[in-house]
Formats: sequence, structure tokens, C-alpha cells
Amino acid sequence: MINIPKGTKDILPSQVYAWQYIERVARETAEKFGFSEIRTPVFEHTELFSRGVGDTTDIVSKEMYTFLDKGGRSITLRPEGTAGVARAFVENGLQGGVLPFKAYYLFSAYRYERPQAGRLREFHQFGAELYGASSPAADAEVICLAEKFFENLGLKKNELHINSIGCPECRKKYHEALREYFRPHLAKMCPDCNARFEKNPMRMLDCKVEECKKITSGAPRMLDFLCDDCRAHFESVKELLTGAGISFTVDPSIVRGLDYYSRTVFEFSSKAAGAQGAVLGGGRYDGLLAQMDAKPTPAVGFAVGIERLLMVLEAEGIKIPEPKKIKCYLAGMDPASRKKAFLLAEELRGEGISCEVDLMERSLKAQFKYADKLGAEFVAVIGESELEEGAAEVKHMSDSSSERVKFEKMAQYLLER
Ligand code: HAM
Repeated sequence: MINIPKGTKDILPSQVYAWQYIERVARETAEKFGFSEIRTPVFEHTELFSRGVGDTTDIVSKEMYTFLDKGGRSITLRPEGTAGVARAFVENGLQGGVLPFKAYYLFSAYRYERPQAGRLREFHQFGAELYGASSPAADAEVICLAEKFFENLGLKKNELHINSIGCPECRKKYHEALREYFRPHLAKMCPDCNARFEKNPMRMLDCKVEECKKITSGAPRMLDFLCDDCRAHFESVKELLTGAGISFTVDPSIVRGLDYYSRTVFEFSSKAAGAQGAVLGGGRYDGLLAQMDAKPTPAVGFAVGIERLLMVLEAEGIKIPEPKKIKCYLAGMDPASRKKAFLLAEELRGEGISCEVDLMERSLKAQFKYADKLGAEFVAVIGESELEEGAAEVKHMSDSSSERVKFEKMAQYLLER
């Protein structure tokens, strides 16, 4: 027997209702904010991510599923949604359309990570991206959307952490300050940090190696290097969030693991679920489109991991409403009655009633047992005498009461209950 690849999961029929519920809440919430769904390919040209996400990031340098296709092109399974949505926005001429452009997605992503609780190689994201607006209100709106989504799911223990990582101008000064700080410590830091020192010292703040983390804790903070425009932008975002009643913590340690961000960055994590990391991450990424050789367009967005979200929901004890059970099971006692049950079920389904019949040729007792497992509300029994009478003995499973119901009245009977 060939097993499932490491870091992937089947979503079984008994679990899928929870996914469908989350997806429904995501769609309804995003659409209330004027976002429409977008679907992009599961694979893209590798260069889209190496340029977009950044080749000093862990995602690009270590975690991508990259392969040559039969035409010799380097292809990568998307490690995240933003770069592909940005490409679609440009490639389909939407930059010249109605702005802001607001899109959301619900799809899978792939990262070659060490699997553990809340960290998979195939995972799923609900994300939202907004293009064309540079105002602080756009940052605040996507944060409000994220907050509303959690609220609609009934989550209460999420903490929002925000930070500003400035623009390329103010970041230049910050990079210099970081290099000055890290230079005397380099010998003690990991090879990755040494490689990042010249190319992108901010990435060093994201290092997971214990020794590096200790050194990093004393590093200068980006907030102290913001230019006047970036500072004013950040102040306005905070003001709007406060006005909207959203509580947050300014956290200078949020730098995000992807290179495309500028100005506002944010993460939501849950007090209820252990240490599997943020459940949602996002921020502004005004430089990404220019980096992809497209007309510069301001952008902001977020993505939330559905698998992590499910863990948080469980940790907070939130019960996801189970789907409606089957309305009526039609049990046949002999070949002729089984045939009638089969045909009657077809008729009832035509009236919009969910029905099942026996496909296993089981005894009546075993059919009742199965109907009970299904959670059927009614079991309609058809035997020789019922066939003669043109009626079924309909048992209400919740109180075991039963009634004779004419075949032609069955649909009406079930629809009224
Ligand atoms: P990210 O922080 O890399 O950001 O991922 C967002 C969320 O996806 C995480 O908070 C987590 O819940 C989930 N996630 C990430 N990696 C894994 C994994 N290996 N297993 C399970 N869940 C995972 C982004 O992807 C950005 N594209 C977000 C964004 C959108 N920024 C702007 N727009």
C-alpha cells in the first residue's frame, strides 16, 4: 500500500463540513467588504516567487517545490497566494480597470517544511489582497476584514500584533544600523544569518536558531528609523483601528518571512492554541509589482492558514455546526418493496428531500441500524402489506412514533416536518 506523502492530509467526509463552514464564513465576510473571489494556477514560473517573495527568504531558499517540466521550464508549486494574484492582476490588465481591485482566495499552498502540528507541506489559505490604494484606510480595512472573519467564527482569543517596517528609503538607514549592530556578533551567528548580513540584514531578525535569537533580541528597532511619511501612515492606521474598536499591540519583532512587505505588517496569533506560530499574517507590499517589472501599484493583504485556524477553533472550544442529516431512509423488506423504495426515493429527491435506500441488501434490522448511524430523521418501511396498501410505515426516529403514509402523500408529509 502506498501511503500519503509526508506533511499532507486527507480531508475526509466526516471532517469536510468544518472546512465548508469556514469557507462559507470566509466568502460571506470577504464579500461584505466588496472582495470577489479569484482563482489562480497551483503552479507558476519559479521566477515569480524568487523575485516576488525574495530569494533570501526561507520560503524561496529552502522550502519550494520546484521542478523542470517536460519542456525544461522551471516550475514551482505556489508557496503562497500573493505573488500569483499580483501576476494575475497585472497580466489580465486589471491595473487599468476599476481600482481599488479587491480579491480573495481559498486555496492550497506548498512548502517543503519540517511537518509538525500546524505546519504542513500542503496547507490551505484564505487570503485577501487589495490593489491600487496607498491610504492607511486600505491597511485598516484588510485588518478589519481579518478581525471580522475571526469574530464571525466566534473566536475571542486572537491577538493582533502590528508593526511598520518602513519604505525602502528609511529601511536603508535601518539596514546600516542593523549591520553595525550585528557585525561584532557575526562569528557566533548561523551560516544563514551570515549570508543574509550583506543581502538583507532584516531577515536575520527572523532567524529561528537559539543563539541568533539571543543576539537579535538587542537589535535596533525599525520603528525608530521610520521617515516622516511612514510614521504618519502608521499613526493613521493605528488611529483607524482604535476608532474601529480593534485592540492591537505594536510589536517591533514582527518583520514577516517574505521580502515584499513595506510599511504596515501584522499577525494574528491565538492565546488558546500553543506555539505553532501566527494563524494569520499580512501587510502592505507597495514594491512587489515594480519588482515584477510591472507598473508600481500599492497593495495590501493577508492570508490565514485554515489548518491552523481549525486548531485554534478547537482550542477555543468552538463547535462548528454539523451539516443537516439525511431526512428519510427508505427500507425495503423484499425484492418488490426494495424496488418501490428505490423508485420512491428518486421521486422524493426530485421534491428536494434527501433520501437513502439500501444498497447492501441488508436485513430490516441492519437497515434500521444503518439509518440510525446516518442520523436519518425518518425511516419509511415498505413490506408486502404496505405495497398492497400503497403506503409506507413512517417512523419518526427521535420519538419512535410511527404513521402510515400513502406513497403519493410522502413528499408533502416529509416537507411539512
Ligand atoms: P505567511 O505568514 O507565510 O504569509 O502565511 C500565512 C498563514 O498561512 C500563516 O499564518 C499560517 O497560518 C499559514 N501557513 C504558512 N505556512 C504554513 C505551513 N507550512 N503549514 C500550515 N500553515 C501554514 C503569506 O503567505 C502571505 N502571502 C500573506 C499575505 C497576503 N501578505 C499579503 N497578502
